[in-house]
Amino acid sequence: MIQHQAWWQEGVIYQIYPRSFQDSNGDGIGDLAGIISRLDYLAWLGIDAIWLSPIYPSPMVDFGYDVSNYVDIDPIFGDLATFDRLVAETHRRGMKIIMDYVPSHSSDQHPWFLESRSSRNNPKRDWYVWADAKPDGSPPNNWLASWGGSSWEWDETTQQYYLHSYHVKMPDLNWRNPAVKAAMFDVARFWLDRGVDGLRVDSAQRIMKHPQMIDNPPNPNPQALANVYKLHGDYDSQLHINDKGHADVHGVYRELRQLLDSYGSSSPRMMIGEVHIFDWPEWASYYGGHLDEMHMPLNAGLLGIPWQARNVQQVIDAIEAVLPPGAWPDYVLGNHDEHRLVSRIGAQQARAAMLLLLTLRGSPTIYYGDEIGMHDIPVPPELVKDPWEISVPGLGLGRDPERSPMQWDASPNAGFCPPDVTPWLPIAADYRQINVAVERSDPRSLLALTHALLHLRRATPALSLGSYQPVADAPDDCFLYLRQHGLHRYLIALNFSPDEQHISLPAPGSGRLLLSTFLDRQEAVKLSDFRLRGYEGGIIELEHNA
Ligand code: NOJ
Repeated sequence: MIQHQAWWQEGVIYQIYPRSFQDSNGDGIGDLAGIISRLDYLAWLGIDAIWLSPIYPSPMVDFGYDVSNYVDIDPIFGDLATFDRLVAETHRRGMKIIMDYVPSHSSDQHPWFLESRSSRNNPKRDWYVWADAKPDGSPPNNWLASWGGSSWEWDETTQQYYLHSYHVKMPDLNWRNPAVKAAMFDVARFWLDRGVDGLRVDSAQRIMKHPQMIDNPPNPNPQALANVYKLHGDYDSQLHINDKGHADVHGVYRELRQLLDSYGSSSPRMMIGEVHIFDWPEWASYYGGHLDEMHMPLNAGLLGIPWQARNVQQVIDAIEAVLPPGAWPDYVLGNHDEHRLVSRIGAQQARAAMLLLLTLRGSPTIYYGDEIGMHDIPVPPELVKDPWEISVPGLGLGRDPERSPMQWDASPNAGFCPPDVTPWLPIAADYRQINVAVERSDPRSLLALTHALLHLRRATPALSLGSYQPVADAPDDCFLYLRQHGLHRYLIALNFSPDEQHISLPAPGSGRLLLSTFLDRQEAVKLSDFRLRGYEGGIIELEHNA
């Protein structure tokens, strides 16, 4: 009998960047009605939950991550009635919906900040982080903003600095003020009460800084992070130990978890938190000592590493090793902040990577368009939109390339917006070949592979809920692991090299190759002697005695 687990453990999440998914009203920007019109596609694909990047009212300096009203919908995307319809239509198809929840900063146009900056005596003054200048007029400490320069901005009117961990137009909220916490918890309730099933907590570490706001120490080796994440330039000259992730952060997430749990087990709500931590024990601490904080801290471990079998295995084994008992892992290969999977590792490797993502133990998130192999688009300087690229140009940090409009079909503008409309970001030049319609009718496309994997995963508890065990004796360029549930065992075999690899496991026994990433063979396999073609991956169902 299949033992079901929570939806967020069994299921596959699909991230939608709403501006880029489907335009329904001809302004060149995606919207909620557009998403509703594509829900049937997502249901067909076989995903279980959608995560929407922010859709709140916003001046769009950071395209929605600069929120000017936490409890409404930006007119660009629709309105609350359309949102309610989206929730209902998503649920009607058996899928869940996850909202981006942005607690660490608001827009400088949020009424809270407008009040806060109006005078030192305003009751909302302490809702943001204000501090005096040093005697020489310089900022209160050495903290650097993620997107360049000091994280402090001088305010002429009130003669103090305010803190912004990202953009100057995105002031940090002061979570040490209980009124801020209460207001932001009300925000969470507002969306959960509307039927939202989960929160993806943006910049989750940022809400708690060192209470004395002491300087960050210098980083003795900024290059050490080069194989882990996109180097940020000057920002990497410091160790960011005091401007985020202070130990008090855990208390806040424990309380937020209690709020989520108060919705009861018949309607379980989930929290997945964006923590950019590559020190795995520290990362795992966000599950909480008693699994009483986040259901899952987002795991960015596979996004920046050189794409080789041993590197990938090392990250997965390190994560498995630090998970507290009962904690559930999660994996992602792309998002709106990272260069596209295909652009990072190549189109051929992307097929085996999709197999990896959908067969690891842990909840996978697919970034919209990765299922059809969308790649980064070139964005000429005059079309740059991303504030990060504008603040720190030329380092490859800009995120426009991975946010290009979804490619639905071969018609002008790829079916994203009407032919006579200019989309907010350019559409990939090869959209006539890489799109949903073309790939749905090609039985060997990446979309066909993703579809097959999602359906096999759903029908096979070992692939979603089973245990994970890496297999020793794999050739250097291959990563092999077992997934097991009850007596059912599956061997996942992935070849990371362009060359054929001969696999010869000491274990006797045999199995059946159920799926190859090339979608061209299903056959009996002897574990002591089988081959993977260049960049091929396969799922082998093992005989009970193997
Ligand atoms: C993390 C989000 O993923 C990113 O897109 C955003 O720019 C920053 N947080 C600031 O909100």
